Amino acid sequence: MKFKFNPDDLKSLVKKSFSSDNINKRRQSMKFFWKNLPEQIRRLSVVAVILFALPLVVRQLLIPTDFGKYGHYRASALDEIVSQEIHYAGRELCNECHDDVVEVKYNGYHKTLTCEVCHGPAFAHTEDDAIELEAPRKRSYCPTCHEYLPSRPSGFPQIISARHNSRKACIKCHDPHDPKPPETPRECKACHAEISYTKAVSKHVDIPCTRCHQTPEEHKIRPREVLPSKPHNREFCGSCHALDAESSEDIPRIDLFEHERRYNCWQCHYPHLPEAN
Ligand code: HEC
Ligand code: HEC
Ligand code: HEC
Ligand code: HEC
Ligand code: HEC
Ligand code: HEC
Ligand code: HEC
Ligand code: HEC
Repeated sequence: MKFKFNPDDLKSLVKKSFSSDNINKRRQSMKFFWKNLPEQIRRLSVVAVILFALPLVVRQLLIPTDFGKYGHYRASALDEIVSQEIHYAGRELCNECHDDVVEVKYNGYHKTLTCEVCHGPAFAHTEDDAIELEAPRKRSYCPTCHEYLPSRPSGFPQIISARHNSRKACIKCHDPHDPKPPETPRECKACHAEISYTKAVSKHVDIPCTRCHQTPEEHKIRPREVLPSKPHNREFCGSCHALDAESSEDIPRIDLFEHERRYNCWQCHYPHLPEAN
């Protein structure tokens, strides 16, 4: 059988299906169908309908009309950003007037920091140098990066500010544009004053500290982490004081095997001020 489309047929079909009689009938059967569905399915279908409807509503109400003009962006955002006031000048501009500072900073420890990290947004200042910039001279500033925190990488230079020259500004000792830790004194005496003065009046005065303590250079820079050696047996003192020691004549001798052999020498003789009575 060949189907032939007749517009009148369609009209009467539509009329029939939307006749109030028919609609009522369908409503009834829908109601019946809905009521007989299990409770959880009914609830779930309400949720499903909301989930389907939500994106449509959001799309209609919330997505700006110019979204999508340049791909996944809101076209008017560009104009808004362009019209914002400029605050930061960037690295290069400072060079025009402060090349001396730029040069000092160039190879220092702070070379990776931009000027404006510390001096704040400087664009206005580059336009008109009467507009002054702040320099963070206060002691409280530098610890924002240098205070000891367990979460910082251990190689990063950190201090405990309460224990690090707590009365002076950091810039009294460190140039902020080229911060170097100032040289600490390098002789033993600078840090071990009491021992040095004691030894200076002792019979061991002529023996250099390093004859008894092998001291790595690093000890003078990180003294608590890198420690010198200490004598650890009787034979060490015996190298000068034993009867058969190959040392100069006037050194008092003991018999290493007889003289209080159960103890280490420095349990009785303070090595920095040795006495024999
Ligand atoms: C057009 C020239 C010019 C440019 C560009 C410029 N400055 Fe200045 N700046 C000056 C002048 C002039 C002074 C005031 C005289 C002085 O102290 O050297 C000054 C002073 C300063 C001071 C001193 C503030 C104080 O308390 O002593 C700082 C900090 C400073 N500028 C930082 C910057 C930084 C950072 C930049 C780059 C973003 C910059 N300047 C760019 C001209 C300029
Ligand atoms: C680590 C933070 C820090 C950085 C980074 C820094 N400064 Fe400074 N700057 C300071 C401090 C602190 C002072 C104050 C120094 C003082 O009073 O002795 C200062 C002072 C100045 C001064 C005043 C004059 C002088 O030399 O003391 C100028 C100009 C200046 N800085 C420019 C710059 C420029 C340009 C840069 C980037 C090349 C820069 N600063 C980077 C902290 C910083
Ligand atoms: C924005 C973070 C930041 C601020 C603020 C800052 N520094 Fe630094 N500092 C650094 C970085 C990064 C280094 C280089 C670390 C490295 O080389 O591993 C450094 C290195 C140093 C060093 C060298 C330590 C060493 O390794 O021997 C000193 C000293 C120092 N800063 C002092 C200061 C002082 C003083 C101030 C305040 C004027 C200051 N810093 C402000 C980040 C900062
Ligand atoms: C009186 C001088 C003085 C003052 C003030 C001072 N320091 Fe130091 N700082 C030193 C000396 C000296 C050393 C080197 C210590 C060493 O070699 O063990 C040092 C080392 C450092 C180091 C390197 C630490 C490391 O482990 O490499 C940093 C970072 C530092 N200081 C930051 C600061 C900061 C931040 C301030 C202010 C809160 C400050 N200093 C104030 C004298 C000072
Ligand atoms: C910058 C300061 C400084 C200098 C310079 C210095 N020391 Fe020390 N030394 C220390 C500190 C701090 C300690 C650790 C004290 C502690 O941990 O109780 C120490 C510890 C020692 C110890 C004890 C090691 C241990 O295991 O207990 C000896 C030995 C020593 N130093 C010898 C020397 C000699 C020798 C020199 C010179 C060649 C010297 N030091 C230079 C600061 C210094
Ligand atoms: C004759 C060898 C000798 C000489 C020289 C000597 N020491 Fe010692 N030192 C010792 C002995 C031994 C000990 C104790 C080791 C022990 O207790 O385990 C010691 C201990 C130390 C300690 C650890 C703290 C203490 O008081 O016990 C320090 C710090 C120290 N010496 C520094 C020095 C310094 C600085 C000099 C130079 C001024 C020096 N020593 C010279 C033999 C020597
Ligand atoms: C480098 C050689 C040398 C070494 C090592 C050495 N001494 Fe001495 N010691 C001497 C000399 C030199 C005298 C001083 C002699 C004098 O002037 O009467 C002396 C004196 C003494 C005296 C004093 C003796 C007296 O008659 O008053 C005692 C005790 C002593 N040493 C103990 C030690 C002990 C303990 C050690 C090991 C920690 C030690 N010595 C390591 C060279 C050494
Ligand atoms: C139990 C404590 C004790 C110990 C340990 C000890 N001594 Fe003595 N030492 C003494 C006394 C006490 C004297 C002085 C009386 C004497 O001559 O016996 C003395 C004397 C000395 C003298 C001077 C000898 C003289 O003829 O003038 C030297 C040198 C000496 N000791 C070195 C050492 C050396 C080196 C060691 C380690 C090998 C050591 N002593 C271990 C207690 C001790």
